[in-house]
Amino acid sequence: MELLTIKLKKLFSENINNIFSADYTEKIDIQNSTKKEFGDFQTNFAMVSSKLIGKSPREIANILVENFSENDIIQKLEIAGPGFINIYLKNNFLNEEIKKVENEKYDFSFLNIDKTVIIDYSSPNIAKRMHIGHLRSTIIGDSIKRILQFLGFHTLADNHIGDWGTQFGKLIVAYKNWLDKKAYEEDPIGELEKIYVKFSDEAKINPALEDEAREELKKLQLGDENNQKLWKEFIDISLKEYNKIYDRLGVNFDYYFGESFYNNMMPSVLEELKQKGIAKEDQGALVVFFENNRLPPAIVQKKDGSFLYTTSDLATMKFRKDELKVDEAVYLTDDRQQNHFKQVFEIGRMLGEPYNYKKTHIVFGIMRFGNGIIFSSRSGNTIRLVNLLDEAKAQVKKVIDEKNPDIPEDEKEKIAEIVGSGAIKYFDLSQNRTSDITFTWDKVLSFEGNTGPYLQYTYVRIMSIFRKLKEENIEPKNNDIILDNMNGIERELAVELLKFPQAVVKSYENYRPNIIADYLFDMAKLFNNFYNSSSILKEEDKKVMDARILLARKTAFILKEGLSLLGISTVNRM
Ligand code: ARG
Repeated sequence: MELLTIKLKKLFSENINNIFSADYTEKIDIQNSTKKEFGDFQTNFAMVSSKLIGKSPREIANILVENFSENDIIQKLEIAGPGFINIYLKNNFLNEEIKKVENEKYDFSFLNIDKTVIIDYSSPNIAKRMHIGHLRSTIIGDSIKRILQFLGFHTLADNHIGDWGTQFGKLIVAYKNWLDKKAYEEDPIGELEKIYVKFSDEAKINPALEDEAREELKKLQLGDENNQKLWKEFIDISLKEYNKIYDRLGVNFDYYFGESFYNNMMPSVLEELKQKGIAKEDQGALVVFFENNRLPPAIVQKKDGSFLYTTSDLATMKFRKDELKVDEAVYLTDDRQQNHFKQVFEIGRMLGEPYNYKKTHIVFGIMRFGNGIIFSSRSGNTIRLVNLLDEAKAQVKKVIDEKNPDIPEDEKEKIAEIVGSGAIKYFDLSQNRTSDITFTWDKVLSFEGNTGPYLQYTYVRIMSIFRKLKEENIEPKNNDIILDNMNGIERELAVELLKFPQAVVKSYENYRPNIIADYLFDMAKLFNNFYNSSSILKEEDKKVMDARILLARKTAFILKEGLSLLGISTVNRM
């Protein structure tokens, strides 16, 4: 089905181009109206075209409204303020549109979706702590992937794990010196983290350890069998731990091409950088300097010959184009890596083919923990992420135990898991991603306000209507949703439901899942108003009852679909 705004835009451009005898399509923008008193939609065309047409906005609006052709879509046009045009849609038309929800796929072809987009997200560093930034990257990246897929893009999900670098030399030294075998068997990642911290502490007292670590790293890089074995072991252990979190979050990747995967591709990238005169020698290292020092210089090879993060990202860029045939790449990391990505994108531009395709760095702020939740302790953040999910689950379980004790225990468990992890995800995704946020259980788990549980609860409410209908064997027969004798709130909700695909598009254009969250919250509030003010199952007018049932069904459908774009599943009761 075509998006309402697209339909309206077409109708407006036919009329406008006809009335003003020129092509003004580019100037026409159809927006959601800011208040319901301003109609279902609005356009500011008269204002933005005033100079071009050579008339005042109100004059233009007048001419347009008076000469707009009869059609099946628009009930009435109204001029407001300096020249806004408020658009009211016909009930019949709304009915036809809303019937398509759930039955027809949206047509997003206007977005140029015939593309392969790689999403580089999560990307923790092996045997180092998976910090909260990686959790945010995982949650936001997964949502972006789902949004892109929903729109029809071909996506590739790549976990660019940090599985190469200086930490391995240190870890090998630590392993040889301080590993507690028994602890390692019981909690391997915990023990790795412990000895890694131990290394840092010891190296402060005994700097010779750093030399040892460099030695071990070199051996590893040269293929020393024992070190290679240890390195693989560390990766295995870490991935196992990460996968526990991914499983619980319902996150999947197509690839786990970590940094080490690009090792043998880096020398040729370096060659290219030298050949094209982009990297220059500077005090023994190879460095890229930027025009007018717009960015700090980027080192691509150290004095000792080793490569850097930047080098590996350049090799990654090339591989993705050459081998994975991507058209675009998006990267998700916290905002501390802004300069890094500016540098690599800029170097990519300087290098030209095959590096210079469209890339976007999607940044997010820091998540802090309030109310005494201790998160960034030195011991084992990876495990703490699991604890966070466990805690959310336990708290939701308590609520279910109180509210709905009769639900069988195993179902309670499942519900608590979905609602609990959904609450954490929703908390993250409903925020403006670039701002820093503070995690508190009150905010995450509240059943009121813009929260995951509130939306879950709204969904459950609708499901309970359908359970009762089933019990009473009621099947709606009439299939119109907006009837002229309704009180208006149904209509408002129906229009809102039709705005869903636009919210998705907007969220994609800004890579901001919170636009979908905001939309869902507004929509759920409208539904709850409707639910509280109109009887559904006790309604005496059979036609009105049917209409309301259908409206509830469409609401549930959109709610479920919207939440799925945030990576959140729904439950039928709780
Ligand atoms: N492993 C990196 C870190 O934790 C993030 C990697 C992001 N992706 C990339 N292609 N550089 O900081």
